[in-house]
Amino acid sequence: MFISLEGPDGVGKTTQVALLAERLRAAGVAVVECREPGGTDLGERVRALLLGGDVAISDRSEALLFAAARAQLVDEVIRPALAEGAWVVCDRFIDSSVVYQGVARGLGVESVLQASLFATGGLLPERTLVLEGTARRDAVPDRMEAAGEAFHARVREGFGQLAGQFPERVLRIDASGAPAAVAARVWAVVAPDVR
Ligand code: TYD
Repeated sequence: MFISLEGPDGVGKTTQVALLAERLRAAGVAVVECREPGGTDLGERVRALLLGGDVAISDRSEALLFAAARAQLVDEVIRPALAEGAWVVCDRFIDSSVVYQGVARGLGVESVLQASLFATGGLLPERTLVLEGTARRDAVPDRMEAAGEAFHARVREGFGQLAGQFPERVLRIDASGAPAAVAARVWAVVAPDVR
């Protein structure tokens, strides 16, 4: 089973990935956690380029760099883990590209999706949980966080539309309240797949 957690910056995805992995392990499931961009040597270097803010990056280069990091993560981590029967829980995946680059940068949902599907060799998560709630801001914004309020409003709107675009795969989760309460909502939709 391959699950991705998605949502705008600062809604608590990273905490929820950790809590979900912990709960799955307690239920006897082997879990591999990963994050995007990153999770491999190449991916972490690409992450530094993408978020560092010290290199000029055009919108299409940005989409392709995220896709390159994703390709490496799929080949090096995700496919091998799935082949061994582990569950993979990933902090962001293809839908972050669809929303941030396709919608918010305006590159187009279809082209970004196609580029990303090339990167993953067609692999998509079986379930994608989009966390929706109030965002907490980091003290020092990275290059993406510094993209401006209008950009992030388009990001929120893009995530809001995802479940409608991919109804069989994407579920919206209310991410308001304490982390434990959000974790309980996440578990309620994941638990039926654990046997
Ligand atoms: P990260 O620190 O992981 O953000 P968060 O903690 O909010 O998940 O930084 C990843 C940033 O990169 C975040 O702003 C979302 C953005 N991003 C894209 O624009 N496209 C992508 O395909 C991915 C994976 C992330």
